[in-house]
Amino acid sequence: MTSIQLFHPLHALTLTQLQQRSSAKWQRYGKGVLPLWVAEMDVPLAEPIVEAVHHAMEMGDTGYGSGDAYGEAFAEFAWERWAWQVDPQDTYAVIDVLTGITEVIAQISGDDVPVVLTPPVYGPFHKYVSTMGRKILNAKLTPKGRLNPKTLEARFAEIHKAGTGGIVLISNPHNPTGVSHTRAELEMLAALAQKYGIRIISDEIHAPLQMPGHVFTPILTVAGAGSAIVVTSASKSFNLAGLKAALIVGGKESRAHLSALREGHMHGASHLGVISHTAALRHGGPWLDAVIGDLDANRHLLSELVAKHLPGARYFMPESTYLAWVDCRPLKLEGDPAEIFEKKGKVVFSPGSFFGEGGEGHIRINFATSPQILTEALRRAGSTVRRAQKKVDAA
Ligand SMILES: Cc1ncc(COP(=O)(O)O)c(C=O)c1O
Repeated sequence: MTSIQLFHPLHALTLTQLQQRSSAKWQRYGKGVLPLWVAEMDVPLAEPIVEAVHHAMEMGDTGYGSGDAYGEAFAEFAWERWAWQVDPQDTYAVIDVLTGITEVIAQISGDDVPVVLTPPVYGPFHKYVSTMGRKILNAKLTPKGRLNPKTLEARFAEIHKAGTGGIVLISNPHNPTGVSHTRAELEMLAALAQKYGIRIISDEIHAPLQMPGHVFTPILTVAGAGSAIVVTSASKSFNLAGLKAALIVGGKESRAHLSALREGHMHGASHLGVISHTAALRHGGPWLDAVIGDLDANRHLLSELVAKHLPGARYFMPESTYLAWVDCRPLKLEGDPAEIFEKKGKVVFSPGSFFGEGGEGHIRINFATSPQILTEALRRAGSTVRRAQKKVDAA
């Protein structure tokens, strides 16, 4: 990133422009509320993406996908950003990350194999895995929102005793606590997984969005984690969730298991999705760095806004991505904080309960928006809390 940032993607769009978007973030709750929930960013797209999609549309290039461009672009990106050597042969394009996770689970394990989750964690993990009929075991995070060796070992030992073999699905970096797992934490996970015969699946969709001072550690670069399987996408960091595409990435140890996925090639990721994600990874670097600069400023602004408007609430300073985790239990609100903020304050955050065990009383704030919208959102939340507290005092 250059020292003087000239382009500020998060300052570029007005509220009126954003309200014209037809995506879930801006439509679900209507115009009266400020939506800081689902993981979409309030940014214009990187120019190379717009050009690539525009070109495809002009050419009528909207047939089935072909070739390994996405995997090749990801390999270049992973090497440049993280010095992670990916062989494009070990990448498999799929529709999206959640579908990819279910495909990997089905490929590598039988129906009786349980899946360990690390809540509070991205809610749809639970929904998709349980819909597959899999048993889920929770290895709760530490109070600081980090991987917990005690709960992990307890769950892995249970599985080992049952003799089924098992899978652990992690979010690396972690949604919603914003934690970038360190190499030491991932080595601890890999060592425990090896000890108890557990296979690791690592969802690395948020990896490119690292805040200054923090680094992303790809699971496949961690000692002892060679059999791990990654599911990733350019969709979060380049705001392309509507242009469906994702990648499964395995190491040499997974080839035998994953090669069957090649056959699904033409019926997996959308061709336009692949075109847009490939352009993002190959040419979107400067735009991505500008977004990271704006997110870094916003995470500090949000820290001040939480202290000013929600005094007592505990803000987890994000190390990565654009989702901030806030423990609202000290505010002593009567009911679910996100529901109160939506109904009484006209501002929508994701409810902590969406992320499973340990999420109660928390909210997740999507701060990938303009500083003005973020400031107004927290002002609304603050005045809601003050009104609620006054009511309790008066009673
Ligand atoms: C950790 C994580 N994984 C997966 C997804 C969804 O990805 P996809 O739309 O590619 O299934 C999200 C979306 O926010 C996410 O935060």
